[in-house]
Amino acid sequence: MRLGFLNTLLLGSFVASCLAVTVTVNKTPSHSVPSTLCESRHSARISGDGGLYAELLQNRAFQQVTPNTTAALNAWSALNGARLTVIADPTPVSKALPNSLQFTVPSGSSGAVGFTNAGFWGIKVDSASTYKASFYYRFPASSSFSGTLTVGLRANSNGATLASATTTIHGTTTNWTQVNLSFKPAASAPNVANSFFVSIDGGAAAGQTINFAMFSLFPPTYKNRPNGMRVDIAEALAEMGPAFFRFPGGNNLVCRSFTPGTRWQWNATVGSLLDRPGRAGDWGYVNTDGLGLLEYLEFFEDVGMEPIMAVWSGDRVSGYALGGTSEPESQLAPFIQQAKDQINFVIGDPATSAPAALRASLGHPEPFTLRFVEIGNEDFIGSAPSTYPYRWRDFFGNLSAEFPQIRFLATSDVGSPILSPAPPAYDVHVYQTPTWFYQNAFYYDSFQRDGTTYFEGEYAAISTNASNLFGTPAQGRLLWPTMASSSGEAAFMTGLERNSDIVFAASYAPLLQHVNSTQWTPDLVSFDAGSVIRSTSYYVQKLFATNVGDQYLPSTLPTNGNTLHWSITRSFSSGATFIKVANAGSATASLTFDLSQFSTVASSGTLQLLTGAQTASNTPAAPNTITPKTSTVSTGKSFTYNAPAFSVSVITVTTH
Ligand SMILES: *[C@@H]1O[C@H](CO)[C@@H](O)[C@H](O)[C@H]1NC(C)=O
Ligand SMILES: *[C@@H]1O[C@H](CO)[C@@H](O)[C@H](O)[C@H]1NC(C)=O
Ligand SMILES: *[C@@H]1O[C@H](CO)[C@@H](O)[C@H](O)[C@H]1NC(C)=O
Ligand SMILES: *[C@@H]1O[C@H](CO)[C@@H](O)[C@H](O)[C@H]1NC(C)=O
Ligand SMILES: *[C@@H]1O[C@H](CO)[C@@H](O)[C@H](O)[C@H]1NC(C)=O
Ligand SMILES: *[C@@H]1O[C@H](CO)[C@@H](O)[C@H](O)[C@H]1NC(C)=O
Ligand SMILES: *[C@@H]1O[C@H](CO)[C@@H](O)[C@H](O)[C@H]1NC(C)=O
Repeated sequence: MRLGFLNTLLLGSFVASCLAVTVTVNKTPSHSVPSTLCESRHSARISGDGGLYAELLQNRAFQQVTPNTTAALNAWSALNGARLTVIADPTPVSKALPNSLQFTVPSGSSGAVGFTNAGFWGIKVDSASTYKASFYYRFPASSSFSGTLTVGLRANSNGATLASATTTIHGTTTNWTQVNLSFKPAASAPNVANSFFVSIDGGAAAGQTINFAMFSLFPPTYKNRPNGMRVDIAEALAEMGPAFFRFPGGNNLVCRSFTPGTRWQWNATVGSLLDRPGRAGDWGYVNTDGLGLLEYLEFFEDVGMEPIMAVWSGDRVSGYALGGTSEPESQLAPFIQQAKDQINFVIGDPATSAPAALRASLGHPEPFTLRFVEIGNEDFIGSAPSTYPYRWRDFFGNLSAEFPQIRFLATSDVGSPILSPAPPAYDVHVYQTPTWFYQNAFYYDSFQRDGTTYFEGEYAAISTNASNLFGTPAQGRLLWPTMASSSGEAAFMTGLERNSDIVFAASYAPLLQHVNSTQWTPDLVSFDAGSVIRSTSYYVQKLFATNVGDQYLPSTLPTNGNTLHWSITRSFSSGATFIKVANAGSATASLTFDLSQFSTVASSGTLQLLTGAQTASNTPAAPNTITPKTSTVSTGKSFTYNAPAFSVSVITVTTH
């Protein structure tokens, strides 16, 4: 395994050790840099539920499970002998949520009897937070008990109660009744090995049965949105300076097991949580759809980013299981209508569009911003390309007629198959080695300037093994971004900046990973129930997104294929000039910048430097191993900068 890794990097080292270059910077911009160029995206892995979406309880509403199975009780456990079963309730809390938790206190019980929810591999207990708990309950006709019910948080190790609140439940309640409670822990817990609990006095309730449905537990959320986002994850994303968010996913958009009914459907994700059935997601876990279309859109507004939204394109292929089939052209009409409805929910006029009226009724009469819509996801996989020409033609034809202001993106390979009408834009995906990324920094330089634009919608250096990219860690797959992978990506990104006359947006993928339930590595941001880990690639994304001008300044070109790359942008209004240098090689590189075309160049500038050993990573055990360091550097009309091995540098200097 490590041999291949060394081979790769020795090549880089050989090339880099020769490098000393002079970069002459042209004062006249060649093109403007689109405001969307740098950003971030949503991943389909455990990232919504148990991640960005702040809900703390896993399997909160027994969605999409088979009643009366052990699996249906995922994350739930009995306390002190309680009997728990998930039942298909004859009187469900709602049509969309047919299952409930049947809780029986065995006769002869005493003490507190109840059950727990383990959260998403733990629950953070923070004394600064007020937690909001809620649930529905009803008594089956045969049962009756009136008394105190306690909910709260407890330590797994010794069962100690960390916070709690009580309510009185009434045995006469045979219809579903909602209970809301809140509590604040007296002290923070030392770790996340804590659970949510519900209990009643077993002696008083012995022999009784209660049905429960639709539990929820929320900590404070980002910008205090009800049903909102987890603060630390949302803040990590916002701090990156994202311009857009691609959603509702790549594979998350499509179907599991070739069943169109299991695809993401916008209308199943809006309105009351009681009306959201959830779905068996593409990555092997149930999506609650609590993070629905409206919650996404409000989050984008809160962060100040815009959506790149996907609509389903009639293909049953999923990235998980290749070789599905497509809807025939004669069957596409209802799916095209559903895509129109989805777009109208986002931007339609409530006076003329029912989906827009629904949006207004949910509290957002104003349209959201929506400039980019992608038709499908990865329609280059399996048999999808053979049917994409008619699916593209019909979706694009109908949608662009109704929404001429939106730029639509195709998701097949660029130019193959030939699509008609010609796509205004393509979404390009690439998962490769660190070496591939620096070797392909000129990928877009040779593209025709024919009006087609590009979104580098998914990219990441994921393995050091070019012959087995998707293999195991033992075969070279990366568990975490490394300085070698991140500096390789940065080299590629300098090429995206240079080509930002045609590349209008780019996003690393996947964005989010729960370290206790991982379907794909590496990821940009990792987290567990209590903390967030910013990867080296995260810092590269942040450096690029937060240090970009609105004009691209041409300069001496890097050598195609080499490990050393740079790009220069400038803010027209402030004169701030951003010099980015990516050194993906194992030796220091010396660059002399010639800025003599400007009449004045400040004598000092700011350096933000991210660097570390080639295999160094930020991990749960050492989350801050590599972070950008800011310092002052000497600049002027001519200055030399030594870029360390495996580094990404941004020099900001004012020029006029
Ligand atoms: C790369 O993957 C191939 C195919 O699985 C494997 O035989 C080889 O050992 C791997 N190379 C390294 C360096 O791990
Ligand atoms: C639930 O499963 C148990 C054990 O497999 C079985 O005895 C019982 O009949 C099942 N109940 C229902 C309602 O299906
Ligand atoms: C979650 O992952 C972390 C880091 O690997 C580990 O320390 C912890 O024990 C895991 N938690 C659970 C509940 O598995
Ligand atoms: C319970 O629901 C039924 C059916 O919706 C309704 O007729 C009845 O009045 C309700 N009972 C109470 C006590 O709310
Ligand atoms: C519980 O809280 C929710 C959200 O604030 C609210 O919509 C609902 O009416 C509350 N239910 C009760 C019974 O107070
Ligand atoms: C969503 O709308 C489609 C029609 O576009 C319909 O078939 C489906 O049942 C709806 N789903 C929900 C949960 O309302
Ligand atoms: C709209 O979709 C229908 C149904 O697939 C198709 O017959 C028609 O040609 C499409 N219209 C345009 C303008 O592409």
